[in-house]
Amino acid sequence: MTRDRTPADLVGAAPDAAFEITFDGRPVRALPGQSVAAALWAAGVLAWRTTRVGGRPRGAFCGIGQCHDCLATINSRPNRRACLVPARPGDAVTTQEGHGHAGLGV
Ligand code: FES
Repeated sequence: MTRDRTPADLVGAAPDAAFEITFDGRPVRALPGQSVAAALWAAGVLAWRTTRVGGRPRGAFCGIGQCHDCLATINSRPNRRACLVPARPGDAVTTQEGHGHAGLGV
C-alpha cells in the first residue's frame, strides 16, 4: 500500500502555499491552517518534549488541548500546546525538556 494521498487530497482541499518552520533548527514544511503539532507529525516528528521525571519522549496525544503532552518551546516561549498553536511562517520550534524553564533561569 502506498501513502501518496495526503489528508488535503482526501478532502479535496486546495490550501495556500506551504511555508517553512524549523524544528530544532531543521526545516519543516507547514501548510496554512496547520497546527504546529500537525506540521511536525507530517514531517515524521512524533516527539518534541521530554518528561520532568525520567526524560521520556512525548508528542501529541489528545490533539485537542486537554492532555498537555504536546508542550513545546515555540519562538523561545516554553509550554505552548503545539496541538493548539497555528504554525506561522518562520516559527522556531524547539524540543522542550522538563518543565521548559531551563533557559529562563527558574
Ligand atoms: S496533544 Fe493534548 S494538549 Fe496537545
